Amino acid sequence: MVAEIQTSAYQTEALIAEDIDTYLAKHQHKTMLRFITCGSVDDGKSTLIGRLLYDSKMIFEDQLAALEADSKRVGTQGGEIDFALLVDGLAAEREQGITIDVAYRFFSTEKRKFIVADTPGHEQYTRNMITGASTADLAVILIDARKGVLTQTRRHSYLAHLIGIRNIVLAINKMDLVSYDQATYDAILADYTGFARSIGITDFTALPISGFRGDNISLKSDAMPWYSGPTLMEHLETVEIGVDEDQAKPFRMGVQWVNRPNLDFRGFSGQIASGSVKPGDAIRVLPGGKTSTISRITTLGGDLKEAVAGQSVTLSFEDEIDCSRGSVIGAADAPPETADQFETTIVWMDDDPLVVGRAYWLKLGTQTVSATVQEPKYQINVNTMEHLAAKTLDLNAIGVAEITTDRPIVFEPYADNRTLGGFILIDKITNATVAAGMLHFSLRRAQNVHWQATDIGREAHASLKNQKPRVLWFTGLSGSGKSTIANEVEKTLNLMNRHTFLLDGDNVRHGLNKDLGFTEADRIENIRRVGEVAKLMADAGLIVLTAFISPFRAERDMIRAMLPQGEFIEIFVDTPLHVAEARDVKGLYKKARAGDLKNFTGIDSPYEPPEHPEIRVNTVAMTPAEAAEFIVRQIMPLK
Ligand code: ADX
Repeated sequence: MVAEIQTSAYQTEALIAEDIDTYLAKHQHKTMLRFITCGSVDDGKSTLIGRLLYDSKMIFEDQLAALEADSKRVGTQGGEIDFALLVDGLAAEREQGITIDVAYRFFSTEKRKFIVADTPGHEQYTRNMITGASTADLAVILIDARKGVLTQTRRHSYLAHLIGIRNIVLAINKMDLVSYDQATYDAILADYTGFARSIGITDFTALPISGFRGDNISLKSDAMPWYSGPTLMEHLETVEIGVDEDQAKPFRMGVQWVNRPNLDFRGFSGQIASGSVKPGDAIRVLPGGKTSTISRITTLGGDLKEAVAGQSVTLSFEDEIDCSRGSVIGAADAPPETADQFETTIVWMDDDPLVVGRAYWLKLGTQTVSATVQEPKYQINVNTMEHLAAKTLDLNAIGVAEITTDRPIVFEPYADNRTLGGFILIDKITNATVAAGMLHFSLRRAQNVHWQATDIGREAHASLKNQKPRVLWFTGLSGSGKSTIANEVEKTLNLMNRHTFLLDGDNVRHGLNKDLGFTEADRIENIRRVGEVAKLMADAGLIVLTAFISPFRAERDMIRAMLPQGEFIEIFVDTPLHVAEARDVKGLYKKARAGDLKNFTGIDSPYEPPEHPEIRVNTVAMTPAEAAEFIVRQIMPLK
């Protein structure tokens, strides 16, 4: 067998040397398997990967690069070697902005190409494992035969199953250290089978191996005649990877970009997420729901008669209908759903915990929307699968929570479609990827509530009042003078016959928001509600003044984004902490300093000053009346 492998490697080398075109053509048509190895150094993971690479006599990435250079030098078509096929998994991740360390290795055998994502096994690396697993077709779960099923085996299996990997390989390693004993293997297998069933893994492939000795890796082991199944390499080379399954599903493609090189051509480019498509097929573009017929399928290599899941294509329609980046093209008679509220599983990947109620960017395929996460229903202990109560999610925590998006998105449950059901969350301020998630289903309450059109719109309300609506958003520390100055501004506007309303923090907290305290989550909810009310009042044509500490930039930005451009005016009442504390109008700073009042802004709760407020007033230099006059002058004429 060893001789055979070597011969085949020599043949490959000979082929590369003599007929690179044939070699490359062969290489390009091989299928690709992405897999992840789960386990720790102790389980023998590095040895196993090293052994796989060695036995495959694989083409290293740098060798491929050299190959390309060589083929260019000799002037053949070899320069066209399809590197994309090798690295597109990485490209997809980069595009999604995931920057978490995962080591990828590429190798190739006569039958297949492989990308193996190697992630550390410890619990603090859950996010790395999820990142590596997100594009994987198969997971190799390594077990040390001397130790059997461990907590980490359970965790890795759970995570692999959660992320939707259908092919699980249980590699019971270090068989040489248990004298290749079948009874040991059988006992571990029975133990694992019971566990796997309990978390919903119905099918897996178990193999007795020794990475160190090379038993059942590429060569069948003579030491374990009782095992009659395939070697690990045979299994990796032949396992079915769900491509056919994806192709049998209804057609869906997210639009990556609109390709319009000239007036005669308009095409929609993307990668087909599921199903297949032919010219003449009836399609529906979502959201929106307009239908048309496919007129042409274009690719770099020419037009196609049919394209299937996994292919990147440009589609043209018979009709000019609305379709842009983020739209999803689906089969007309079996389109995907759209919704704006979901139950999801979220894996938190950021050092800063989830902030319930805060708006994050949610990126699902080619769609990006603003989304907020509700308090988790529960968190999952990844070692015991127990459900725990949770107020938030910390780094590496996994929980189930509802998510609301600011507009409907096109989706499918993750279990049916990883492309249209998997998403990431991005912090709007730092731009970091903070979570990965999986949509379970849309919530019915969203499905059955529709927007009701009314005839008297915001323009009609405003024109009757003969003014332009505005939201004058005062922000600053407690005792900075927000309420006093806002009150002065309202008095002036009132004298000028402007229709106004002042929403004041202390007052709103007596009624609408009396259920809220001063935790981060409560403050976010406080501001969200006030923002919604201010928006309604602006829709009614009013000039709204709000006086809330509103300490977080993200929520102030969220309200700004809810209103038409130019309508939100952020007024920073800029009073240094020591000045506000010296004034201490309500005696609250004293209480906070004495420890009798928790979470007090400026003392033990943060205040994030506006970076670019429309108006800034310095209350050390100005009296409240002067500040008010200054503000009124800035916002005039209001018509
Ligand atoms: S916000 O942070 O949620 O925007 P809001 O403006 O509604 O706060 O309420 C602030 C007012 O509540 C303060 O002016 C003060 O009178 C009172 N207050 C009571 N406890 C606190 C606290 N822990 N931090 C800040 N303000 C508090």
